[in-house]
Amino acid sequence: MNLPFKSLVFVLAFLFTSTVFAGEGMWLPQLLKALNEGDMQTMGMKLTAEDIYSVNKGSLKDAIVHFNRGCTSEIISAKGLLLTNHHCGYSQIQSHSTLEKNYLKDGFWAKDRSGELANPGLTATLIARIDDVTKAVLKGVTDDMSPKERQAAIDINLEAVKSHTNVEAHQEVMIRPFYKGNQYFLFVTVTYTDVRLVGTPPESIGKFGSDTDNWVWPRHTGDFSIFRIYANKDNMPADYAEDNVPYTPKHFLPISLDGIEEGDFSMVFGFPGRTDQYLPSFAVEQIVDVLNPARIEVRDHALKIVGAAMRADEATRLQYASKFARIANYWKKWIGEKQGLETTDGVGRKKRFEAEYLAKAKEFEKNKRYKENMAPSTYLDQFEKLYKERESYALARDYHNEITGRNIEVMQVAGYHQRLIDMYKESGEPAYTSFKGRLNGFLQGFYKNYQPSVDQKVFADLIQMYVEKMPFDEMASVMKNQMGAIGAKDYNDFAAKLYEKSLLTSQDMLMVTYGEEPDKAVAKLADDPIIKLNTALNKAYGEQVTPKLSELQDQINELQRKYMKAIIELFPDRSFYPDANGTMRVSYGKINGYQPRDAVSYLPVTYLSGVVEKYVPDDYEFDVPAKLLELYEKKDYGDYADNGKMPVCFIGSNHTTGGNSGSPAIDAHGNLIGLNFDRVWEGTMSDINYDKSICRNIMVDARYILFIIDKFAGADHLIKEMKLVHPKK
Ligand code: ARG
Ligand code: ASP
Repeated sequence: MNLPFKSLVFVLAFLFTSTVFAGEGMWLPQLLKALNEGDMQTMGMKLTAEDIYSVNKGSLKDAIVHFNRGCTSEIISAKGLLLTNHHCGYSQIQSHSTLEKNYLKDGFWAKDRSGELANPGLTATLIARIDDVTKAVLKGVTDDMSPKERQAAIDINLEAVKSHTNVEAHQEVMIRPFYKGNQYFLFVTVTYTDVRLVGTPPESIGKFGSDTDNWVWPRHTGDFSIFRIYANKDNMPADYAEDNVPYTPKHFLPISLDGIEEGDFSMVFGFPGRTDQYLPSFAVEQIVDVLNPARIEVRDHALKIVGAAMRADEATRLQYASKFARIANYWKKWIGEKQGLETTDGVGRKKRFEAEYLAKAKEFEKNKRYKENMAPSTYLDQFEKLYKERESYALARDYHNEITGRNIEVMQVAGYHQRLIDMYKESGEPAYTSFKGRLNGFLQGFYKNYQPSVDQKVFADLIQMYVEKMPFDEMASVMKNQMGAIGAKDYNDFAAKLYEKSLLTSQDMLMVTYGEEPDKAVAKLADDPIIKLNTALNKAYGEQVTPKLSELQDQINELQRKYMKAIIELFPDRSFYPDANGTMRVSYGKINGYQPRDAVSYLPVTYLSGVVEKYVPDDYEFDVPAKLLELYEKKDYGDYADNGKMPVCFIGSNHTTGGNSGSPAIDAHGNLIGLNFDRVWEGTMSDINYDKSICRNIMVDARYILFIIDKFAGADHLIKEMKLVHPKK
């Protein structure tokens, strides 16, 4: 494109000196010095950018750990003690739980290191350094290249950069695009694979309020759990082994006992997963008016069925707790997102920005000539056309993925078995045997938490929706043909017949088949009615939807890259941070309440008295452990109280998203003050339209965590390992 080229960093550095922002942005730790340090210090921070991110000495970043590549966690002792959310460690806690030893229900505290529980597959990733590799990655890339040519050139460069990067043993290299592909950063990482469970409160603390309180303030959840990273004798990553030793970190976070006050500086350091802050208004409208309602509808149905089964039976509740929470989480978020966008006129705000953009673009283009579709003033019209065209394909994708890929459990298993069949046919017996071995490992975990009767009800319900709502006929016809072939009277009958006949609904039957000669086993699997149905649906989807959808998506991505670049260049006096992409970021703001509606004002801190207010004996969401009630009665808070009251959660204006769960909230001096775990209801739309007036992140107060470990669980040996400080005294 014809805009004058400037390095983004240069542009950004130049504009930040004059800008003040309260809360918005997820900043790159290695650029804080150039972009944010002054602003952060004005807001009260006493650290330097070098204290936060340094490649030469231990800095805060060395205590921040990507937990299982999804959540964040932080090191809080010299012996690799790792703090994260209860909901981040949930499936590990669940995997160690049985009806007899129910750690979800009762909590768990290892008495000493020998009692800490191994979690095969769980990873903890540290960042060694981050480098700007934009020049090398975009070498030889020109504006006349087609998106395909461009990507091919970039792919070659990426390989070259990776192979030329010097790393030590155990280090890995990863490169990610930022600003929609206008800039590239390289991350050198180290991943530990022996991460053990050290302790967790019971669900009645760690998940207090459950789905009713999820995404809601005021909140009273002690959403934390504790793990430990183990290393080999050289402090390097090693898979679980009895003689592994606790990891010695370059830095760990001291914990402040002085607590927080409204207006205090705070910073959240972690791995936000994904935001879409720079979508055009048409895309936002489509998401909230068309796509999210479809996904909400699918999950509404599934959650009702699974929820009823869970309430009727404790064993089912245990099996489905984690899966249910995951499905419920975004179901609720999408509902909140729509409401938040409406109350803040998010789409209107975007449209006003777009009008401004258009005016600036036209002004800029005066007396210049552009090739077709290359003038920035045409980008918005191009977006509108592309998004309109994409709508029915995206809708089909969402129905298809939500129904067959997520909510009907057996369909996922069917997909894996189709792959097994193909592998045998294409690559022969050795490939088949090796894939079968891996599949078998997965299936052990799957069947432990699977009830065919529950899944069958979900199937009957969602398959009907699939037939009725799918915007293309092909997939619905596939379904109807199979119903006819099997002689099903209706959807319930169809489900009953399939679940009765299929091998996949019985682990025993499937295992018998696994034991047979490959020829015979593959023939049986290929004849399985659920595998057949799933394969036929995927085939129809692959023909009808995938090609056009990915073609349109490629065009949209290309346009989004050019639009991002134009935005940055046309608004040189504004601040633009890159969308979250699962890489390490720093957000900062202040401890702050908010006013969501007329005459309603929220205070920023909750207390244990609020837990007791919400207490409903024996309720599955709001029960409170007797021991906690007792501590409350006696006001037995140790050193952790604030003027005689026990703080539980607090909120602030730190910009966060999914993946920031488990991130430390850090004070002006670099100490831990809280643990991030959620956002407030009115601000859940922050991923597509951050609004500083009502977007707040929710954190557990570090003092509540210490109180639960020490007074509630009696695990004071862990407290002794930590470094407790009084920065305010
Ligand atoms: N909403 C938070 C986040 O997105 C917490 C989720 C915990 N799950 C739940 N269903 N309560 O992860
Ligand atoms: N609860 C989210 C997480 O798990 C955080 C958020 O979306 O605010 O990462």
